[in-house]
Amino acid sequence: MLIGLFCLTAAAVVRAEDPYIYFTWKVTYGTISPLGVPQQGILINGKFPGPNINSTTNNNVVVNVFNNLDEPFLLSWSGIQHRKNSWQDGVLGTNCPIPPGQNFTYHFQVKDQIGSYFYFPSTAMHKAAGGFGGLRVNSRLLIPVPFADPEDDYTVLIGDWYSKSHTVLKKFLDSGRSLGRPDGVLINGKSGKGHDKDEPLFTMKPGKTYRYRMCNVGMKTSLNFRIQGHPMKLVEMEGSHTVQNVYDSLDVHVGQCYSVLVTANQDPKDYHMVASTRFTKNVLTATGIVRYTNGKGPASPKLPEAPVGWAWSLNQFRSFRWNLTASAARPNPQGSYHYGGINITRTIKIVNSPGTVDGKLRYAINGASHMDTDTPLKLAEYFGAAAKVFKYDTIGDEPPAKGSDKISVGPVVLNATFRNFVEIIFENHEKSIQSWHLDGYSFFAVAIEPGKWSPERRKNYNLLDAVSRHTVQVYPKSWAAILLTLDNAGMWNLRSEQWERHYLGQQLYISVLSPARSLRDEYNIPDNNELCGIVKGMPLPPPYTI
Ligand SMILES: *[C@@H]1O[C@H](CO)[C@@H](O)[C@H](O)[C@H]1NC(C)=O
Ligand SMILES: *[C@@H]1O[C@H](CO)[C@@H](O)[C@H](O)[C@H]1NC(C)=O
Ligand SMILES: *[C@@H]1O[C@H](CO)[C@@H](O)[C@H](O)[C@H]1NC(C)=O
Ligand SMILES: *[C@@H]1O[C@H](CO)[C@@H](O)[C@H](O)[C@H]1NC(C)=O
Ligand SMILES: *[C@@H]1O[C@H](CO)[C@@H](O)[C@H](O)[C@H]1NC(C)=O
Repeated sequence: MLIGLFCLTAAAVVRAEDPYIYFTWKVTYGTISPLGVPQQGILINGKFPGPNINSTTNNNVVVNVFNNLDEPFLLSWSGIQHRKNSWQDGVLGTNCPIPPGQNFTYHFQVKDQIGSYFYFPSTAMHKAAGGFGGLRVNSRLLIPVPFADPEDDYTVLIGDWYSKSHTVLKKFLDSGRSLGRPDGVLINGKSGKGHDKDEPLFTMKPGKTYRYRMCNVGMKTSLNFRIQGHPMKLVEMEGSHTVQNVYDSLDVHVGQCYSVLVTANQDPKDYHMVASTRFTKNVLTATGIVRYTNGKGPASPKLPEAPVGWAWSLNQFRSFRWNLTASAARPNPQGSYHYGGINITRTIKIVNSPGTVDGKLRYAINGASHMDTDTPLKLAEYFGAAAKVFKYDTIGDEPPAKGSDKISVGPVVLNATFRNFVEIIFENHEKSIQSWHLDGYSFFAVAIEPGKWSPERRKNYNLLDAVSRHTVQVYPKSWAAILLTLDNAGMWNLRSEQWERHYLGQQLYISVLSPARSLRDEYNIPDNNELCGIVKGMPLPPPYTI
């Protein structure tokens, strides 16, 4: 079976004739009080959460970001694949941060990944103060979507929240302690505590069906999402149309996005939507009002119960299926529907672990804790200066043998072979849930199982209709397996979505280089790219050619 054929034939450069959408964003501090107490927030054009980007397949998205904070800053676009273009990924391994008082223009083309995403600040603990917003990729009219057009389409950003500033939170981590427990949960920047006097977040006309896109933009906590009296029909997750099962509630782990259809077919009045923490000792809850336009009456104070325990959550994961007959969003960028028939060329087994280095908390992957470098890894590699900045493959494809629980700190970069079909196993020996995300790709999330992984466990994989997505959770003392073709050249961040773990080293980069050095496989560095670290002032290397 041939994979990656689509890449060979795809246009080599951003096609100028495709429409452009432009944004100018001013990033500033501003006072917000999401938990009722004033605190410093990060605003985009004065807004918290930031504006939503509404794009359509093939749009060229141009976002000129002015950093008016007092610290270097970057935005990243969670789940946007940036084909051949890790230059736009906006993480410290690919981009120089935008210095205070300066601006940088992101320019990327969204492809056929029709679905729900979000953007967020990837630097420091900025995400804890805001700077995030929704990002949609709509279908061009030519590509049918497997459900009728909803009456309206709502973005619901949910996440845990701290009342301390991002600088205080960062100081905690830098001094070796953990962030501790969050102080609340927000829905679109508001905490609503079941009050029926709150202004409605959303309205629905009786009899009509609405699309709600929920993303967990929080710092570390899995959330359960539900709407009083309204079952939700799942239609999409992270860019894949799913089999349309109906759920009373959904577990949304950090970094994940789900779209559901909800029909306003109940008594015309107000209803609470609820996001509450999962797998935590104290349950934190946020509510928001959904109002029928002909509504007469407040929402019932009795909130729907959340499920208990992680077995429920695992069963829900197992019920997710990709809709193989949905025509939207395909041809599949992974190159094949029949991923189950492709031979695995490499297995990378990743085990997360906490530890201390010089008395301070760190998190590691296979014994190595990632540390960002002054020169972004991608730039060092592109300018031929990788050896001065990092070593490839400081960790193996297996965790080190038992007994060696020493953690090393430094940049962690795996050297991968272009177009290999790989299996990545995430094995979690800890008592807390993990959420993993890979930039630049969607992957088939083929299994999550309790216990330890072994090759025999492959017989439990869903090799037919696992959902292609970019984030997967791993329950305590469990493992998850993903399959993907490394057909997108670039430097890509594989990370814990739990932000203190990410900040303290539970992340790495996968370097995928096309030996052809061809524009068919990867774009050249854009002209406007900021240079920093040792590549500042270096002559540009010979550009990639067709
Ligand atoms: C988003 O874009 C689509 C397609 O152009 C359009 O139909 C829709 O009205 C837009 N939605 C919003 C909220 O702007
Ligand atoms: C900064 O913004 C100006 C427009 O105000 C633009 O011309 C320039 O290209 C931007 N700089 C970068 C590096 O994107
Ligand atoms: C899958 O998509 C097809 C084609 O758009 C649609 O007709 C069908 O109802 C969907 N199937 C399920 C099980 O959701
Ligand atoms: C996969 O590997 C098996 C055993 O090595 C081989 O027989 C088969 O042809 C391979 N399949 C593909 C699709 O390459
Ligand atoms: C990375 O792997 C490729 C094979 O895929 C190999 O050719 C190359 O030399 C390796 N690079 C380094 C720096 O190890």
